[in-house]
Amino acid sequence: MRRVSQALVPADAASSLIPRMISEGIADRSAKISRDGAFRRVPIVPGRERDAEAMGFDIAEGEAYTMERRSPQERILEEFRDIPDAEAVLPMRWEFVGNIAILKLGGAPDALKRRIGETYAKILNVGTVCADSEGVSGELRRPDMEVLYGSSTRSSKSENGVIYEFDVAKAMYASGNTRERQRMKDLDCAGETVVDMFAGIGYFTLPLAKFAGPRRVFACEKNPDSYMFLLDNIKNNSVGDIVIPMLGDNRDIAGKRFADRILMGYVQTTSEFLPKAAEMIKPGGMIHYHDTFRVGCSGRRIKEIFDGACGPEGYSVERLREVKSFAPSVSHYVADVRIMRSD
Ligand SMILES: C[S@@+](CC[C@H](N)C(=O)[O-])C[C@H]1O[C@@H](n2cnc3c(N)ncnc32)[C@H](O)[C@@H]1O
Repeated sequence: MRRVSQALVPADAASSLIPRMISEGIADRSAKISRDGAFRRVPIVPGRERDAEAMGFDIAEGEAYTMERRSPQERILEEFRDIPDAEAVLPMRWEFVGNIAILKLGGAPDALKRRIGETYAKILNVGTVCADSEGVSGELRRPDMEVLYGSSTRSSKSENGVIYEFDVAKAMYASGNTRERQRMKDLDCAGETVVDMFAGIGYFTLPLAKFAGPRRVFACEKNPDSYMFLLDNIKNNSVGDIVIPMLGDNRDIAGKRFADRILMGYVQTTSEFLPKAAEMIKPGGMIHYHDTFRVGCSGRRIKEIFDGACGPEGYSVERLREVKSFAPSVSHYVADVRIMRSD
């Protein structure tokens, strides 16, 4: 182990002094700062000891723990240096959900699964590593996760002041929809009655209920697993007096023209549910309609779909934006559509 000179910086002033030592080129950024009682030991660039003393610090000698400056990808490739073409075979991207890393195995051979789980857990510093085999599938968007390392697939994620608790093996979580979740938080829904027709674990319901000021949100979810997490999340985010959870098919929701706003956070078959939304929305109400379209066709497709459901004069599209790429040449879009008439 290399030995270096270290400045003994009082811990209570470290947050202002260490940045100054770094900006003046006195602190050695390639070595780790360590704790020593009421001091921080800050490694000094060789030859700058006098400058550190001039700042009023005592100098001591200590071991230089080198800072890990390699990326996790570089460290993974180093661990798998015996595998030919490792960069092409191994996952080089992943997603974190709390203490869980989720990756796609792609071309990695089955024989490597266990080793991948152990190595990635160590390098990414997580308790569980899961392989997302097929993405989500079916009407109820069930995930297909294989646990490569660890055991617990239940986790929680905090985003924009909302805590989402769920099991990554049982309920989907669309990380690409972050901006849309933020937008739900930023809406002004003061006094409104809102219906979330595809509530899941509360992706849109929770930020909207917690921050946008609605009077009540009916949150409908058909997948019993997701519904159980929705119940927990309503409780954990203290929105039980606003959100009314409903387990079942949204086409069975009773009532006409009672909703000021409807969230249709579903893709691919969303248009099948539009007649129900048109029945529930009040004249003047807003539908946030999600769907997937070929890139370049979204405006035309929205017009076709809403012409069919509300008549050409029965709505106006206030905003249309891409949420994320969905497949080659296909994107997920959301349209904010004001409904004038719903008969
Ligand atoms: C795609 S997920 C929600 C995605 C979410 N908007 C996001 O940003 O991550 C849609 C949810 O709708 C539920 N669902 C599907 N069909 C439904 C129906 N007819 N009634 C109620 N919920 C339904 C699925 O079980 C799933 O949990």
